[in-house]
Amino acid sequence: MRVLIAFLLVGMFHTVTAAESTIPLLPMTPDLDDKASLQRGAKTYMNYCLGCHSLQYQRYERTANDLGIPHELMLEHLVFDPDTRIGSLIENSMALSSAKAWFGAVPPDLTLYTSLKGTPDYLYTYLKSFYADPARPLGVNNLLFENVGMPHVLLDLQGLPRKVCRTKLEADGSTQEPCDTDVIVDGRYMLEVDDRGSMSPEEYDQVAYDLTNFLYYVAEPTRQERERLGTFVLFFLAFFFVFTYLLGREYTKEFH
Ligand code: HEC
Repeated sequence: MRVLIAFLLVGMFHTVTAAESTIPLLPMTPDLDDKASLQRGAKTYMNYCLGCHSLQYQRYERTANDLGIPHELMLEHLVFDPDTRIGSLIENSMALSSAKAWFGAVPPDLTLYTSLKGTPDYLYTYLKSFYADPARPLGVNNLLFENVGMPHVLLDLQGLPRKVCRTKLEADGSTQEPCDTDVIVDGRYMLEVDDRGSMSPEEYDQVAYDLTNFLYYVAEPTRQERERLGTFVLFFLAFFFVFTYLLGREYTKEFH
């Protein structure tokens, strides 16, 4: 079902999203066997994203079971609303009209986000593309999502990156002028963090990776099962083919 919805959404938004990406995406290879990474991603999500973005097609219980988190621990550490039960959907109580007034845009539900974008690379790049832009109402912008309405919510972890021109830097190591706004083309920009948050760049990369890994899992919780089953089915068909073939030969051996 979820795959079907994702498929329809991908179809609907394909043209829009294809035009959106102005910079090359950073590659991110998800690892659904890495339960520790998924657990860390879930923790970051519940703490930093859920306030605005629901995961309305996913339940806490399923998440806890799949990620190997005991239900009590899940309820104690990852659920902040006392009315929420383990079987509840991962929703928040943000009123859409307030969101629109505060940020100029409604934070979308992120259950299917990585499928919608067709690749987890997009989210990973997005999380690493916030930069200081005093011209914006919240003081930040995003290389991948121009004039984004979302604040840089991981600011205290990453710090505030500043946009510098790669071409200018390479030509003359001393200049760090900001790029002109009309040169947003592939690979021209790089982000530098002078005003660092509580984490080193490597630690922040890990946070972005874990969060993306978690949302990749959420987009299709049955992915691993499906792939396992798929392999089994193919093996079975190959095995069954031998007998069908032999039986067919047996039946037709009298026809010449
Ligand atoms: C304070 C509210 C808030 C929080 C917290 C927040 N976001 Fe957002 N987010 C928004 C808003 C508002 C938008 C819509 C921006 C727009 O359309 O301009 C958005 C957009 C996004 C988008 C882009 C959606 C698109 O249309 O492509 C992604 C991805 C995203 N958020 C991920 C996250 C993640 C991951 C976290 C947690 C680390 C997070 N957000 C935390 C408010 C928030």
